[in-house]
Amino acid sequence: MKKVLKILVFGIGIIAIVIIATLITINFSGIPSYEVEKIDYTAKSSPELIVRGKKLTMMLCAQCHMNSETRKLTGKRMLDAPPEFGEIFSQNITQDKTYGIGNWTDAELLYLFRTGIKKDGVYSPPYMAKMPNMADEDLDAIIAFLKSDDPMVNASATPDTPSKPSLLTKILCRIAFKPLPLPSKKIELPTTAEPIKLGKYLAHNLECFSCHSADFKTNNFLNPELSEGYFAGGNKPLDEQGRVMLTPNLTPDKATGIGNWSKADFIQVVKHGIKKGEKAMVFPMMPYTQLSDEEAGAIFDYLQTIPAINNKVNRSIYD
Ligand code: HEC
Ligand code: HEC
Repeated sequence: MKKVLKILVFGIGIIAIVIIATLITINFSGIPSYEVEKIDYTAKSSPELIVRGKKLTMMLCAQCHMNSETRKLTGKRMLDAPPEFGEIFSQNITQDKTYGIGNWTDAELLYLFRTGIKKDGVYSPPYMAKMPNMADEDLDAIIAFLKSDDPMVNASATPDTPSKPSLLTKILCRIAFKPLPLPSKKIELPTTAEPIKLGKYLAHNLECFSCHSADFKTNNFLNPELSEGYFAGGNKPLDEQGRVMLTPNLTPDKATGIGNWSKADFIQVVKHGIKKGEKAMVFPMMPYTQLSDEEAGAIFDYLQTIPAINNKVNRSIYD
């Protein structure tokens, strides 16, 4: 008996040492790197694409990259990132060649947005947006805008503060969060002639699904519809004081979702944050003023077609 016990204690000791050694190694080696595939790509550009790119950038990037002092996309501390991920800073993405993305090629930017791999090969953890399903034309538009002389993105020599990812983030980047594949064919942009298709495209690519499904950890970025509790709310993004802001159920369930809403009420909330008889929407539900009524209405039309899920979520109201 004694011998068995000794062997057991010895075995557990070895396992503990292996685990500790692995954690130390992961902590020192940081976020994993991958090979950067060389792709042949130059973003199309035109005045119309730059206008569209600005609209998309305001909706998709500004919340994280806009700095209130420089009033440019020079990056900031992400106060709403869960503290267990570490200290997270978004980066300077103005045209500055030292601190910004002035030295990034169109292909390097596209590769990051599609796969999550930066030009130095380091994987960008999930707090940076990924766009695996975005139409080629919309990515052209975003990149054309980032390279334009708009005051939001013209060179600003504001130094970056590197993020300090926690051990948890480093572990998750080895087991759970992996780069996404490059799309195998061209992704077309739906038009307003197909409202349901357009609504689905926007609901996925403007990241509505990501906040409004069950949990960031169980979201499926490649196939958003496979995310747990798809659009049934209950996810827990944080506000800038680090408090949980529960997300509402946007499925067509009549009791707990938006099954009884009118399209006009939905457009008012999404574009202006105004909800009849209630307090205005607060961070992180930012008003999508850049959307046209047709686009916001198309999101509503699409959401009325998805499976209704009964999930009551109470609004998080603090002061
Ligand atoms: C949820 C917050 C968030 C959103 C939304 C977001 N970013 Fe980022 N972005 C970050 C963070 C944080 C980093 C730094 C990542 C790191 O440390 O690896 C980053 C890094 C980057 C980088 C790499 C910069 C460098 O010098 O390494 C680029 C380029 C970039 N973002 C562009 C964009 C664009 C364009 C959009 C919108 C289409 C966008 N980001 C949306 C948070 C965000
Ligand atoms: C960063 C996370 C986040 C993103 C992205 C997001 N939302 Fe929200 N949304 C919220 C939160 C949190 C609330 C609740 C805000 C409050 O209580 O003031 C909310 C509220 C709403 C409401 C009000 C529902 C109700 O029952 O009161 C609607 C409608 C809505 N969002 C639609 C959208 C659409 C459409 C998109 C994409 C274009 C979107 N949201 C993107 C987090 C998000």
